[in-house]
Amino acid sequence: MINRWFYNNFLIDNYQEIGSTNDLIVEMAINDNSIDNYVICAQKQTNGHGRSGRDWQSPEGNLYFSLLIRPNSSIKDYSLLSFIAAIAISNAIIGLTNSQVNLEHKWPNDILLHGKKIAGILLKSDKSKQGLEFVVIGVGINILSNPKQTNFPSGNIKEELNIDINKEELLKLFLDNFSIFYQKFVEFGFAPIRNLWIKRAFKLNEEINVNLSNKRITAIFRDLNNSGNLILELDNGDVEAVSSAEIYQ
Ligand code: BTN
Repeated sequence: MINRWFYNNFLIDNYQEIGSTNDLIVEMAINDNSIDNYVICAQKQTNGHGRSGRDWQSPEGNLYFSLLIRPNSSIKDYSLLSFIAAIAISNAIIGLTNSQVNLEHKWPNDILLHGKKIAGILLKSDKSKQGLEFVVIGVGINILSNPKQTNFPSGNIKEELNIDINKEELLKLFLDNFSIFYQKFVEFGFAPIRNLWIKRAFKLNEEINVNLSNKRITAIFRDLNNSGNLILELDNGDVEAVSSAEIYQ
C-alpha cells in the first residue's frame, strides 16, 4: 500500500500495483465484517476484470478503484447501485470538465464520451463469513489511455477533451455524488435515480442492436423501468423488458 487517507466517511487505501482492486476488497470483506465505506484504489492493475469475464486493461494513468458498502436493509436489488455509480461518474467528470460535454449512459453500466466508452462499472455482491452482505462497485475510468481492440469503440478523457484530470479530485467528486444519490435511493427508491440516468441515456428512442443470451436483435430503446430493465419496442410492435444484454454497434 502506498498511502491511506480519509475523505468524508470513506477510508481510502491507495496501492501502486495490484492484481484487481475488486478481488482484494471482496477477499477483505469476506473475512472482516467491520469493513464498510471502504475504497481500494490502484495506480495500475495486473489482473483487472471487466464485465462478461473480459479483462480490463489497467496501465498506469487511468483511475481504478473499488468501493465497498454494506447496503441499507431497505435495498432489495443491489444491481440498481450501478445506475447510481453511472450518474456519479458522469457528474464527477462534468464537475472537472464542463457541463456541455457530451457524456452518455450506455445501458446497463458504461459511460460514453463523444460516443466512445470511457468508463465501466463492475458490480459484485457477496456475504462475509458471518453472513453480512456487501456490495463492491468497481470503477475504471480511462483518463490517459484506452484499449484499442474492443467490441464497442473506446476512448479516453485526455484525447477527447484535451484536459488534464486529477485522479484524486475525480475520485472525491465520485464519492460526493455517490453519497448524495445513494441517500436519495434509500429515501425515495429507484424512481429519482432512473429519471437522472435516463436524461443522459445513449440512444433513447432510437434503434439499437442488442445481444441477448441466445440471439441478436434490433429494436427501439424506449425506456428504463423501475427494475433497471431495458424496455425495447420490437419490429412487430411488442414491448419487452430485458434484464441482461449487451448493446453493440
Ligand atoms: C466493464 O467491463 O465495463 C467494467 C470494468 C470495471 C473495471 C474496474 S477497474 C477497478 C475494478 N477492479 C477490477 O478488476 N475491475 C474494476
